[in-house]
Amino acid sequence: MGLVVLAALAAMVLCSCSTVKQWTGSGPAEGPMDIDVTVFGTMPDGQDVRNYHLRNATGMTADIITYGAIVVALEAPDRDGTMTDIVLGYDNLADYLKETPYFGAIVGRYGNRIGKGKFTLDGVTYTLATNNDENHLHGGLKGFDKVVWDDEPVWRPDGVGVKLTYLSKDGEEGYPGNLQATVIYVLTNKNELRVEYEATTDKATPVNLTHHGYFNLTGGKRDILGHELMLNADKFTPVDAGLIPSGHRVDVTDTPMDFRKATAIGARIDDDYEQLKFGGGYDHNWVLNKNGKIMTPAAKVYEPTTGRVMEVRTTEPGIQFYAGNFLDGTLTGKGGIVYQHRYGFCLETQHFPDSPNKPGFPSTILRPGSKYQTTTVYRFSAK
Ligand code: GLA
Repeated sequence: MGLVVLAALAAMVLCSCSTVKQWTGSGPAEGPMDIDVTVFGTMPDGQDVRNYHLRNATGMTADIITYGAIVVALEAPDRDGTMTDIVLGYDNLADYLKETPYFGAIVGRYGNRIGKGKFTLDGVTYTLATNNDENHLHGGLKGFDKVVWDDEPVWRPDGVGVKLTYLSKDGEEGYPGNLQATVIYVLTNKNELRVEYEATTDKATPVNLTHHGYFNLTGGKRDILGHELMLNADKFTPVDAGLIPSGHRVDVTDTPMDFRKATAIGARIDDDYEQLKFGGGYDHNWVLNKNGKIMTPAAKVYEPTTGRVMEVRTTEPGIQFYAGNFLDGTLTGKGGIVYQHRYGFCLETQHFPDSPNKPGFPSTILRPGSKYQTTTVYRFSAK
């Protein structure tokens, strides 16, 4: 803990040396990269939650807090260079503590669902916390999105960031093994938010970490149905009414799940197609076309009114595209914006849901002596 405080102090000293302390302008301002560490809020037990305000050399900014490893703000330029915050979230800790559908957080130990909250590994059956009817979702009752991570600033030649670490103890939420998890966010000078995940364990355990950012490239001016989405996937994993995959991979051809050509999210979301009834719209995992490559293009989103583009690349085999179907106008976020139905979309790069119970899916089991290592990059531009 002392080390963490020292690191934060070191960051503040470094920050005070640079010319830009905190950038709040409304247009792109070229300048030095910077990290500004402040206190975002205080946990009920008195622990401080820090905010890392990252600024890259082009003027793009990201704000990341140590509670839940949450990206609370991300400003990206439109086609005129105007910077706007393009992620959903709150402007204070109390709101995050009260109720959040995982806005901007890192979810784990297992992002997405594990059917009935049970799996068998090396002959032992484990029972996890169930928090989504009979299923386990996003790590359980107190997943990685609801803990305070240790933090240190990251300075790289091409960007600035924060390294967040969390020790998930043996038995937490029912999982076996002490899992040491690390997430490094870097805002690069190519206008990328790069997320690097690492984990090690002392007992075999499933691991599936992802970022649960809700994006709205209009900056929250309207819902996300006009955004045009491309998914680099010939197949998806169909689910049952509880959103648990059957274990099959199904061809997207001639279905509303085919996003190989960019299509408006709203064009087919309410089609009479059984899979869309489960989850009230898109809330499914697509099987990425990897073509033998490790890092592959996964998704591209274009917002026609602002020209903003977001491209997603990942080492992961799958991506959960969730269209914000459970947002219903009951949550009010930053700047008083009411998050109406489908006001944000998530592109959660990951292994497939319920993999611990699906022998035909790529394995999510991490064993002692091995290292879990994945990378996802979100790149922002405008046209
Ligand atoms: C994930 C799930 C959705 C929903 C959201 C949070 O994306 O797949 O079903 O639970 O998280 O509301």
